[in-house]
Amino acid sequence: TKLLLGQVLQFTGDPFAADAVMGSGPGSAASFERCGAVAIKGGTILAAGGADALRAAYPRAELVDYGDALILPGFVDAHAHYPQTGIIASWGKRLIDWLNSYTFPEEMKFGDPAYAAQIAALYLDTVLDHGTTTVCSFCTIHPESVTAFFTAAEARGMRVAGGKTCMDRNAPDGLRDTPQSAYDDSKLLLEAWHARGRASYAITPRFSPTSTPEQLSAMGALWAEHPECLMQTHLSEQTDEVAWVAELFPQARDYLDTYEMHGLLGPGALFGHAIHLTDRERARLLETDSSLVHCPTSNSFIGSGIMAVMDLRHAGQRVGLATDTGGGSNFGMLRTMAAAYELGQLRGTPLHPAQLLWLATEGSARAMRMDHHIGTLQPGTEADLVVLDLGSTPAIAQRSARANDIWEAVFPTIMMGDDRAVRDVWVGGRVRAQK
Ligand code: GUN
Ligand code: ZN
Repeated sequence: TKLLLGQVLQFTGDPFAADAVMGSGPGSAASFERCGAVAIKGGTILAAGGADALRAAYPRAELVDYGDALILPGFVDAHAHYPQTGIIASWGKRLIDWLNSYTFPEEMKFGDPAYAAQIAALYLDTVLDHGTTTVCSFCTIHPESVTAFFTAAEARGMRVAGGKTCMDRNAPDGLRDTPQSAYDDSKLLLEAWHARGRASYAITPRFSPTSTPEQLSAMGALWAEHPECLMQTHLSEQTDEVAWVAELFPQARDYLDTYEMHGLLGPGALFGHAIHLTDRERARLLETDSSLVHCPTSNSFIGSGIMAVMDLRHAGQRVGLATDTGGGSNFGMLRTMAAAYELGQLRGTPLHPAQLLWLATEGSARAMRMDHHIGTLQPGTEADLVVLDLGSTPAIAQRSARANDIWEAVFPTIMMGDDRAVRDVWVGGRVRAQK
C-alpha cells in the first residue's frame, strides 16, 4: 500500500448540472483537501481524502510526499490520431485540403510496422509527459498501425482505445480498403486486442465522406456483433464537409443520419467535433445516449468553428475533451483545457476550472464509458494519476500564490502550464520514470 500526499480534488457531482451551476457554482460539485492523500494498492485506488484520516487508516503505508502539488486522475484524451504525430502543426489549410495535403501522405507510411512502432512509442511517451494516461486513438487503414499502437500501450501499461481507420472512397491509392476487407481486418484486430489487458477496440470508420454506404453498413454489422466495443468517427466539423455529406448521401436527413442509417449510433458511439449540429441531431444524440468529443485546439487550428459545449452539457449530453492530435495543435490536456476556455469565452460561455478539469478526466471517461475504471479517484478504480506542480514556472507561481481558493490556484496552470507542470504520472499504480 502506498499513500500519495498532496492537495486532492475530487468531483462529488457534475459541475455542469443545474444545481451546481445555479447554487454555489460549478466548484461546489467537487471536494477539496489541502492536506490530502490518495491510497493505492497494486494497480487500484483504495481511497482518497484527508491525509490525517488516511494515514490513520493505513498506518503502515509507504509515503510518497508531493507537498502542495495537486493529485488528480490521469487525463483522458477522448479523440486523437496517433499517426498524425509527424504532421502536427502543419500550416494554413482547412479540413479537406489539410487531409489531402498533410494527413493522407503521412498515414500512407503506417503499412511499415517499424515506422508505426516508432511513432506509437513517441506519441505515447509524449502524452504521458503531458499527464495523459488514456487516449482513444484512430490508427490508419493498415492493421500494422493498430498492432503497433496496442503493443506500445501494453508496454506502458496504459488503458487505451483504438482501431483501424476504414476508408473506401475519396482517399488516395494505397489508403483505401473495401467494405469486406474493412470488416475482416477490423474483426481480426478486435478479436486480438479487445479486452486484452487494458486495451479496448474502437470500430473506426473515418467519416461519412470516406466511406461508401456499403462500408458504413459493414461497420454497423460488426458493431452489432460486438456492442461491447466503442465506435468512433467524426461529425459535422466544417460547414463545407456538412454540405459534401448532404451531396454524397441524398437520402439521409442530415449528417448524423448517415451514421444512424447504418447502425452507427447509440451507447459507445464517439463523435469527434460535432460543431455544426441541427436541433434534430442534438435531440437524437441525447436520446440514443451517444457521446460527443470536444477538440478545441483543432477547431481553432483548422478553422472549424466552436462547439456549443456548455449548452450540450446543460442538456445532459455526454461530452469528452480531446486534443485531436494532429489536427489539434498540442499533445497535452492542459493546453486543450485552455483552448476550451478561450473558445467558451468567444461564445459568451466561459467554462469554470471545475468544468474544464471534469471534462479532461471524468467527462472523457464517461464519454468512453470507462468511468468505472478511470477518470475519478473512486475506490476500486485504476490508479492512473497525474501530479501537477501548480507553480511550475515563475510566472505561474507568482499568479497562483495570490489565489484565494483551489480554482484560482489551478487556473494559471490550466492557462499557462505545459509538461513542466507534470510532476509525476502514475499508470496502473506504478510511477513513471522521471523525465
Ligand atoms: N475528419 C476526417 N478525418 C479527420 C482527421 O484526421 N482529423 C480531423 N480533425 N478531422 C477529420
Ligand atoms: Zn479526428
